[in-house]
Amino acid sequence: MLRTHTCGELRRKDTGKKVTLCGWVHSRRDFGSMSFVDLRDRYGITQLVFDITKESVKKKVLSLRRESVIKADGVVRERKKGMVNKERATGEIEVAVADFEILSLADPLPIEPDDPSTTEDARLKYRFLDLRREKMQKNIATRHKVVKTVRDFFDKEGFLEIETPFLARPTPEGARDYLVPSRVHPGKFFALPQSPQQFKQLFQVSGFDRYVQVVKCFRDEDLRADRQPEFTQIDLEMSFVTEDDIFDVNERLMKEIWKKILNVSIKTPFPRLTYKEAMERYGSDKPDTRFGLELVDVTGIAEKSEFNVFKKIVSSGGLVLCLNAEGCASFSRKEVEECEKIVKVYDAKGLVSLKVGNELEGSAAKFFSDELQKELIKATRAKKGDLLLFVADNKRHVAQTSLGALRLHLGRKLKLINAKKWNFVWITEFPLLEYDEDEQRHVAVHHPFTSPKEEHIPLLDKHPEKVVARAYDLVLNGWELGGGSIRIHDRELQEKMFDALKISKEEQQKKFGHMLTAFRYGAPPHGGIAFGLDRLVAIICGENNIREVIAFPKNKYCKSLVDDAPNEADKKQLDELHISIRK
Ligand code: AMO
Ligand code: AMP
Repeated sequence: MLRTHTCGELRRKDTGKKVTLCGWVHSRRDFGSMSFVDLRDRYGITQLVFDITKESVKKKVLSLRRESVIKADGVVRERKKGMVNKERATGEIEVAVADFEILSLADPLPIEPDDPSTTEDARLKYRFLDLRREKMQKNIATRHKVVKTVRDFFDKEGFLEIETPFLARPTPEGARDYLVPSRVHPGKFFALPQSPQQFKQLFQVSGFDRYVQVVKCFRDEDLRADRQPEFTQIDLEMSFVTEDDIFDVNERLMKEIWKKILNVSIKTPFPRLTYKEAMERYGSDKPDTRFGLELVDVTGIAEKSEFNVFKKIVSSGGLVLCLNAEGCASFSRKEVEECEKIVKVYDAKGLVSLKVGNELEGSAAKFFSDELQKELIKATRAKKGDLLLFVADNKRHVAQTSLGALRLHLGRKLKLINAKKWNFVWITEFPLLEYDEDEQRHVAVHHPFTSPKEEHIPLLDKHPEKVVARAYDLVLNGWELGGGSIRIHDRELQEKMFDALKISKEEQQKKFGHMLTAFRYGAPPHGGIAFGLDRLVAIICGENNIREVIAFPKNKYCKSLVDDAPNEADKKQLDELHISIRK
């Protein structure tokens, strides 16, 4: 190698050694006859000292702009007393440079990656510079360690990592597909997989009873902090298992990751919550259980009040939910309005607030008799100084999710969240199907290969919305880390499921014929799960945005700024692909 040591390696015991270091000029300070350069690589920073009394050396040293790459030969020496830098592993020594070579002189930098005022788009455009930041170097290294831990763990458990095709047929996971036109087959398209779902199930039919893959997935969906159009899953599938087997192996996986990466012992087994309970208590199917502030159903009390807003909704089959914002009676009008704005994002029609004083106070208080006020206070365990916040709605989902969002807002605002906690929770018993107003039919909540609970199979025809799925999610601190299910392995049941989704027999054969055929020749019962690797690493790194743990992510507008993609294609390429662009 061009170097004898890295920039993070030398210590006091190396004093007197002749060394050669290579790296980036992190900073330079000049003092009369001497120049100090902090030389950086991914292992650390070492201080170089240049004697610039000679005019030729001085000229060369002063030409060193920040981030230039140099190679320096010199001798390690102890720093003078008072000059030791205790913050740095190499802080007790410096290298007195005898000779050096400029390997690459850097132009003035186009961005200051470390400056918080640098926009994210600028950082993404010059990502190669942004990735030099200490934090990004750490995040990327942590990502590597997580993947390594995952692979080692599953290898020990007897799983095989098997690759699945990227050029495939669409797999329905609820998002749009990225299509790839075929040159050889004019007018035909591959789809980039939204997940390897069907292939991993086919592996089970092939007898690979423990499959795992760290795999890219592609979904053309609207981006958010926790969503990218291409992202990575830890995808696995097992044969001859029940939910408990899947939970067990993955709890041990998480335990191993937390131990290896963070040196934290997490408690297993993880608690489990049914979907229904999660929605009722937290107003979310990915509840942050690190704090209380649970929702309370006060429909029965509201019904007896004289408050028409509530009464009307209850009498037409709706419900009234309440959140007791403890100690928030002192909220200003602006703060209450802020709360109202949040619930309205989730389609709530309004927010009623009642302060708890000697009695309830607020414009709606007069509609609640003393008796009912007492009932409310009891049901919500309110005390003087609290603030009761109500949403009423005909749609259970609206009342729950809007107050669920408000709960999170208050949790953060009131600093109720202990950032040191790791609250894993399995969410179970999801509904199998939900009605899609736009499509005017039921769609799969998870995906169409998810098995219904056996005792609910007879309900599929007449009461599809009542069918509970053998599906589960793993949630951590309010993030959906992963989701999976026990699958259908019976051809007839799979057809019945497609029927419930109003997929015609012809479509079934056309789109899923391979699955239905495979199930005819010996399919074992099987199930699995997939975790979002980007989310997992982001949480471990303490990041709120998965872009911070992906080397080259897309920006908010789904552009890759570093290489300016997507972009136009050459006419020649398009012609070959039999594509013309509509102006
Ligand atoms: P699902 O669609 O729930 O399940 O995806 C599994 C996990 O992948 C992560 N994830 C994402 N991460 C970043 N950006 C995205 N756009 C994105 N979409 C999903 C989430 C999610 O929990 N085939 C099934 C799994 C199975 O049934 O085994 C599947 O893909 O963390
Ligand atoms: P209105 O009668 O529409 O003027 O509303 C009176 C108060 O009740 C306002 O503070 C609204 O925000 C609130 N409100 C209206 N509808 C609802 C609802 N469905 N749930 C909770 N609060 C509501």
